[in-house]
Amino acid sequence: MDSLVIEGPARLRGTIRVNGAKNAALPIMAAALLAEGPSLIRDAPNLQDISSQIELLEKLGARTQRRPDGAMEITVQDENDSHAPYELVRKMRAGICVLGPVLAKRGRARVSMPGGCAIGDRPIDIHLRGLRALGATIHLDGGDIVATAGRLRGAEVFLGGNFGSTVLGTANVLCAATLAHGKTTIECAACEPEIADLADYLNAMGARITGQGTPRITVEGVDKLTGCEHRIIPDRIEAGTFMVAAAISHGQIEIQNVRLDHLLAAVDKLRAIGAIVEPSNGGVMVAAPRRLLATILTTQPHPGFPTDLQAQFMALLSIANGNSIITEKIFPDRFLHVAELARLGARLHREGATVIIEGERTLIGAPVMASDLRASAALVLAGLAADGITTVNRVYHIDRGYEKIEERFNALGAKIRRVDQTQVE
Ligand code: EPU
Repeated sequence: MDSLVIEGPARLRGTIRVNGAKNAALPIMAAALLAEGPSLIRDAPNLQDISSQIELLEKLGARTQRRPDGAMEITVQDENDSHAPYELVRKMRAGICVLGPVLAKRGRARVSMPGGCAIGDRPIDIHLRGLRALGATIHLDGGDIVATAGRLRGAEVFLGGNFGSTVLGTANVLCAATLAHGKTTIECAACEPEIADLADYLNAMGARITGQGTPRITVEGVDKLTGCEHRIIPDRIEAGTFMVAAAISHGQIEIQNVRLDHLLAAVDKLRAIGAIVEPSNGGVMVAAPRRLLATILTTQPHPGFPTDLQAQFMALLSIANGNSIITEKIFPDRFLHVAELARLGARLHREGATVIIEGERTLIGAPVMASDLRASAALVLAGLAADGITTVNRVYHIDRGYEKIEERFNALGAKIRRVDQTQVE
């Protein structure tokens, strides 16, 4: 198992390009199962989660191929096997987003319940409620969701829950509704850019979707979808992570392939605490010449502050001037990074879903343990700012969402080595 050994502090400078969005690519790849004929997906990142999704699509009868230019071709060849088993869905929860497409196209789907993960319980009750509203019959068998339907029927579907809407639940219902008979209105739909990207892909295949990016999405069902070409949007969370890298290292980074309109809340916070964020050469330049200020931050569904940047901002605010407050309103237990950041000297006090951060002048390098994808990113960022050596163990978590992170940060002046953990212990 690999670890990252980070020699800090580093002051990052230079230009970095953001990859296509993992969380757009995963449901879009699943949606390719709805199509007749091949789809060509451009800018899908090279990540562990994408490989896991490829494995799942192949199990479900699709042939996938990476072309020399990086584009991914997906063609369904055989629709007999509709079972997404535990071994595959367990590796990556986003496997659940094959449920809607497989059910709508094949009339049946058997998908393992994903179970919880390091960031919380992660129920899927709203996904199932939405699919039932479209006419699916669903029961549980041996830990699998077994869903059947004749042709689904358009309906009014409400996807609100205690923590807002659901991103992958919206993806499932949206995909299912494209081939349903009649009109579906999804109320309290997720407004995340990844859902709008999915809808754009579905429309390019012949679906009739309007309202994507808003809480009310309307779908006029069609009889058939045809494979098409689509370019994945830039990864806003990767871009936000790079912005924090510039700020936490008091550096200056030009970030290319970024959609600032997808990052309004994060940019607003960065500016509020004193970072410079300016459009530059078609991308954005982020710099933080001085010590940043403390702030109050609450995660919310899009366009609010994203939960997927909460851990990275906690690392940043650990060295801000003053006391900050972070409240997590999407995944109230998404705080495994708190104890690890504390090992680097961060002064953090958790009360339920809120963490109070007493800003320190410096962090001090130490061995820490990565627990989930974004927590790992936060630890790497903290390691860039800390004095001395920070070793982030179990770094496979970060490889699920960030391609070659150490090479890309090293190109900006960081000193990060990837080592086999056995060498470290
Ligand atoms: N929820 C329910 N019932 C459901 C579904 C969700 O109560 O049926 C709750 C969840 O427990 C949570 C909230 O609703 O409190 C939002 O969860 P959501 O369903 O939106 O999360 P998700 O679709 O499973 C995606 C991303 C996550 C990201 C969340 C929130 C992908 C592959 N995953 O998960 O990304 O944190 O939306 O924005 O798109 C990551 O990339 O590190 C990551 C965890």
